[in-house]
Amino acid sequence: MIFIKNEREIELMKKAGMLVSLTHQYLKPFIKPGITTKQLDKLAHDFIIKNGGTPTQIGYEGYPCATCISINDTVVHGIPGNEKLKDGDIVTIDMVIGYKGYQGDAAWTYAVGNISEEKKYLMQHTEKALYEGIKQVKPGNRIGDISNAVETYAKEHNLGVVKELCGHGIGTDMHEDPDVPNYGPKGVGPRLKEGMIICIEPMLNYGADDIYVMDDGWSVKTLDGTPAAHYEHTVLVTQDGYEILTPRLKEK
Ligand code: MF3
Ligand code: CO
Repeated sequence: MIFIKNEREIELMKKAGMLVSLTHQYLKPFIKPGITTKQLDKLAHDFIIKNGGTPTQIGYEGYPCATCISINDTVVHGIPGNEKLKDGDIVTIDMVIGYKGYQGDAAWTYAVGNISEEKKYLMQHTEKALYEGIKQVKPGNRIGDISNAVETYAKEHNLGVVKELCGHGIGTDMHEDPDVPNYGPKGVGPRLKEGMIICIEPMLNYGADDIYVMDDGWSVKTLDGTPAAHYEHTVLVTQDGYEILTPRLKEK
């Protein structure tokens, strides 16, 4: 069932979304060679608590941390640990934060030091694929219009689309209906209505799109070891289009 949010709920979703944006902004200057992913997670965790939020991911299906931190060929759900970021890595930080019971979710891929042209290309075009999807958000359009826009853009840029994972509705639960796939035909799927809130999150990679889950039960990696990028926004369907609830803030 797809929930339509009322004005009060939308206000709380905006607050949750802004807290996700602020946490990303806070982390950005720390994303440097030498820091461990566990240290980044601790910084995020403490910042969330200090600002009145809840690190919703902790305990979700047994997940242990506030953030997912995925380096290079890890597509999503990397568990923070003792691995240090190195010059030339790309790293995705993804997090769900609760505010008074309402959830915000956003992921960004960051460059660590100097990265290769291939990685720059992958990051740039994965982010653009997200915005191509977001442009389709308006009442009357269908979920498939978003999916198709993401896939079309990725294909035009010779990037692989990870198909096993998708975006989702969001509200008091981090994962609500509907699913928001990153591929498929346009004109299909649920129709968007004012007051729906969805997460759009293309995961693109630089090689073939096959993936596997590591022994830790969480980390999803590309089978061929090529790097992957992941960008995600929480997006509200408005009367005539959309509003991004997790806007990207400038580095302080
Ligand atoms: N942020 C992820 C998403 O986009 C969910 C993380 S799964 C968790 O859906 F287990 F780590 F919480
Ligand atoms: Co997410």
